[in-house]
Amino acid sequence: MAYLLGLDIGTTGTKALLIDQDGGIVARAVSEYELATPRPNWAEQDPADWWQATCQTIQSVLAEADVAGDEVAGLGLSGQMHGSVFLDENDEVIRPAILWCDQRTADQCEWITEQVGAEDVVAETCNPVLTGFTAPKIIWLRQNEPANYERVRKVLLPKDYVRFRLTGEYATEVSDASGTSLFNVPQRRWSDLILERIDLPRELLPDVYESPEVSGQITQTAAQATGLAVGTPVVGGGGDQAAGAVGNGIVTTGVFSSTVGTSGVVFAHLDEPLMDEQLRTHTFCHAVPDKWHVMGVVLSAGGSFRWLRDNLCRHEIAQSKESGRDPYEYMTEAAADVPPGAEGLVFLPYLTGERTPYANPNAKGVFFGLTLRHTRAHIIRAVMEGVAFAMRDSFEIIRGMGVETAQVRASGGGARSKLWRQIQADVTGQAHCTINVDEGPAFGVALLASVGTGIYGSVPEACSATISVIDELVPNPTRTQLYEGYYHLYQELYQQLESCFETDQQLVNAASAQ
Ligand code: XUL
Repeated sequence: MAYLLGLDIGTTGTKALLIDQDGGIVARAVSEYELATPRPNWAEQDPADWWQATCQTIQSVLAEADVAGDEVAGLGLSGQMHGSVFLDENDEVIRPAILWCDQRTADQCEWITEQVGAEDVVAETCNPVLTGFTAPKIIWLRQNEPANYERVRKVLLPKDYVRFRLTGEYATEVSDASGTSLFNVPQRRWSDLILERIDLPRELLPDVYESPEVSGQITQTAAQATGLAVGTPVVGGGGDQAAGAVGNGIVTTGVFSSTVGTSGVVFAHLDEPLMDEQLRTHTFCHAVPDKWHVMGVVLSAGGSFRWLRDNLCRHEIAQSKESGRDPYEYMTEAAADVPPGAEGLVFLPYLTGERTPYANPNAKGVFFGLTLRHTRAHIIRAVMEGVAFAMRDSFEIIRGMGVETAQVRASGGGARSKLWRQIQADVTGQAHCTINVDEGPAFGVALLASVGTGIYGSVPEACSATISVIDELVPNPTRTQLYEGYYHLYQELYQQLESCFETDQQLVNAASAQ
């Protein structure tokens, strides 16, 4: 029996997943690390933490499963997208990596768009330049930390830094490269035009592979650090969204996924690089060779729920310490007793700005409609509903592009709550299914490794051999109708508050400059 390893270098931790060639879960391990916010709207991590977590989790899955390194046929890498790891001529990390959720680069996005020309940016990358993406981070470094910039010889995405430590290769793959603003998405190659217009040398960037292709092999040093065998193939893998979609079987037209992790993502497979005319969603290369995908990204979905748990749900946390149950279970139980609509309490989940449908780094979280009647349980329900409204925004845009939605598969931590899945089904008016595996991107890249090592002939073949639908929640028409009114109020609130978000941000900036 051959085993395959999937690694996901996430924002809160790294996960290693060992599967057998039939897709059976053999062992999993997670190792967490910190996220630094040295200033408001900044988000950084030390790549050394990812590497340490990688070694630790690989060693622990091999030990738990009692599998020898040479029984692992291949490894796939996934991870948080868009982050920038700056390496010097000795391959040392120059400064902490700037992450996907960092919002410092509004000026650089504008500058790149002016230099390249808005139409050419879209023709090349299928997207606008956004604060989370990689290119503006490189320009930010050039403009704000010139001494550091002078030392940069390579810029790698988070999972590709781990690949470098594992294989010694500077490599990436099409799905993650798509989120850099430096990649020609229709033609699946780096954009010479953009690189030239913003004066970045091509040598800064790694080579690009298709996701199931082998990009390198485990080196002697990495073998010692991880317990894997020298020469084990490492496939391209995928950015966490494309990889997660493979892990959900979103590899043919008509099947969507709706994933509530830290961020919330509505994802659809595309045979051609279709775009939303207003560019509110991202069109990127898929981890399926010669296919694309469109996705709407809600920056703080599960992130809003975690914020709520950590700041307002001490009671549920204390209860869970006594009982050993997850605090989220107590939170969702409390929310279940509150009527749909939370008796007029509406939450806007823009705790880290927003991407879809408003690419606005200054958008803020809001509770609207608070009265004496409202309890913590109402607040919990309002957060669950607010995230569902935000996900519906993405559904509306993708449906509006004419993409068929025959089936929606719910995944991520948010899908574990039946109530939250039902709320999402009611708010979108679309049945939400669950599948037999909920292992996210790590499962997807383990499947990509099974294709790269020849166990399966194609990504859809690997998915249909290992993934099946096990459950479906259908929308309740009465609740769907009720939510319709709340959804319009939710949308109206953003419109009314847009200028207030700007003023609020100016006040925050002024205070932090003092
Ligand atoms: C996708 C995105 C997030 C991050 C972190 O565009 O920004 O999915 O990759 O999860």
